[in-house]
Amino acid sequence: MVVGARPNFMKAAPIYKELRLRPSVEVELLHTGQHYDRGMSDIFFDELGLPRPDLCLGVGSGSHAEQTAAVMVGLERAFVERRPDLVVVVGDVNSTMAGALAAAKLCIPIAHVEAGLRSFDRTMPEEVNRVVTDSLSSLLFTTEESANANLRREGHPEERVHFVGNVMIDTLVEHRARAVALEAWRRFGLAAGGYALVTLHRPSNVDDRETLAGIAGALRELARELPVVFPAHPRTAKRLEEFALAGALGGPAGVRTIEPLGYLEFLSLMTSARMVLTDSGGMQDETTALGVPCITLRTNTERPVTVQMGTSELVGSEPSRILAAARRALSGDWKRGRTPPLWDGRSAPRIAAVLAGWAGRG
Ligand code: UD1
Repeated sequence: MVVGARPNFMKAAPIYKELRLRPSVEVELLHTGQHYDRGMSDIFFDELGLPRPDLCLGVGSGSHAEQTAAVMVGLERAFVERRPDLVVVVGDVNSTMAGALAAAKLCIPIAHVEAGLRSFDRTMPEEVNRVVTDSLSSLLFTTEESANANLRREGHPEERVHFVGNVMIDTLVEHRARAVALEAWRRFGLAAGGYALVTLHRPSNVDDRETLAGIAGALRELARELPVVFPAHPRTAKRLEEFALAGALGGPAGVRTIEPLGYLEFLSLMTSARMVLTDSGGMQDETTALGVPCITLRTNTERPVTVQMGTSELVGSEPSRILAAARRALSGDWKRGRTPPLWDGRSAPRIAAVLAGWAGRG
């Protein structure tokens, strides 16, 4: 199993644990090191009960080509030494695609968890990663019906596609009670149900000064009506500094910018938030599972079920639209949403059963 960046860890953990329960399967965890700060990586291993990885490549940051190439070189060496029967990759980050490419060139079969999602927006680096990874994978594990339809339309044979539900929700279900009991909002002087939780990290929102300034202004306005807490991704923290926008968030009386949080504290904050404003993919899924209003600062999504059935609404990054949506959520005028099919906390056992069956065939 290959992991590399923050959103990989909560997807890999339940599958890794489930595979470890099966004596016929030998599983190793390889960490590319795409994310490397303690708050972006190690804390998740500790909290999610993942062991130290069997190998850490330590590739770190870089341009897309640099990062992808470094992961490929490191994983190729690891795969040649270890000769796995199968490589499992999760999600849509650069490490996911690089792992798939390295395996494919060595003719090692690939399983992709969270396959088939499409935003149909190739300006998103993740969309390129999804398309490439799926095209190279022999086992495609999907989270929602749209993914099945996308894969079908792209001509993937039906027998490769396994609709298993959402493993991220397995992790959420496992840790929810602990997270709720943490009452992390207390640490930030907030009241349960009395704050907005914000995350932002998409290059399209944070790498352009004008866009980021607009969003910051909307958040500052919202902070006059409702406390706003904002664990800032390192990319975003760097941009806020570079663009001299910290002030635009409203200083001490405005948006509360804090360091990135670990899984449990973050889940704790999410469960008791009045609303979430985010451009994260994973949080669209998690807020849908929790029934928390999600104002999605994007114009498209690869996870349409979160809009059609769940609590997410695509609002984009226009400040007036963000503020209008937030005011609506604040007044209670928001859809309640339903849990999508198979987001029941049992996806990892389904995946492990397919993997064990696949191994048994050989
Ligand atoms: C990556 C994923 C994105 C995912 C996100 C979750 C790709 C193309 N993007 O974006 O899909 O939603 O992770 O967080 O794979 N940095 C640190 N410490 C770290 C990691 C990164 O300071 O531990 C900083 C570096 O300045 C780096 C920047 O963040 O250049 C961006 O990191 P990178 O992994 O390239 O992309 P993300 O924006 O994190």
